[in-house]
Amino acid sequence: MDSIEDYIIQHIDDEPELLKQIYRDAQVKLLHGGMSSGHLQGRILKMLVQMIRPSRVLEIGTYTGYSALCIAEGLEDDASVDTIEIDDEMEEIIRDNFSRSSLSNRIKLIIGDANEVVSEYDDSTFDLVFMDGNKRDYLQLYEKILTKTKQGGFIIADNTLWHGKILEEPRSNDWQTKGILEFNDHLKSDNRVEKVILAVRDGLTLIRKK
Ligand SMILES: C[S@@+](CC[C@H](N)C(=O)[O-])C[C@H]1O[C@@H](n2cnc3c(N)ncnc32)[C@H](O)[C@@H]1O
Repeated sequence: MDSIEDYIIQHIDDEPELLKQIYRDAQVKLLHGGMSSGHLQGRILKMLVQMIRPSRVLEIGTYTGYSALCIAEGLEDDASVDTIEIDDEMEEIIRDNFSRSSLSNRIKLIIGDANEVVSEYDDSTFDLVFMDGNKRDYLQLYEKILTKTKQGGFIIADNTLWHGKILEEPRSNDWQTKGILEFNDHLKSDNRVEKVILAVRDGLTLIRKK
């Protein structure tokens, strides 16, 4: 046994075959394959969705569609997830991945900048938002997303422990680390929400709008 994560992986639900393929393809064919959710985080996302039982979900940052498919797995029949991806070069891969799933009817892909797309939704639209876009924009996007989240709804922010870099002084040009630090500090004093950080993978912050 190599690590606690290996042990966990051996004692949780299996990763569906399609997701295994999507994950493997990302590692082999894409430059930043590590950005994809994987087995453990995917099963956590599905479980959280089953616990929250949202009608409408928003995801920021689709990448290959791995996490959107995990969210879709947890949704009830009439529920749906909108997922926004800024990189139009990913569109073909994402649509192909979704088309291989029986859950594609629950997922709507929007190619665009979440900073703009989110503004187009009515306030209090979503029961759950999964934030997984550019870490530089986390705080700015969070403020927009919060108004689009229903009272009692949830936001899950990924990568909030940022490979442990949150414990170090960031380099002057490390805008991603600075973005995460700014977001985490802001959240701590944000009384509109309850929050807790799970030290899973790269850190998942669970936020509940009061
Ligand atoms: C970490 S990856 C997402 C991984 C995916 N959610 C998963 O778990 O499998 C981040 C993605 O966010 C996208 N992104 C970055 N900034 C964005 C923005 N402003 N609007 C929409 N997507 C954005 C990137 O192009 C990238 O594909």
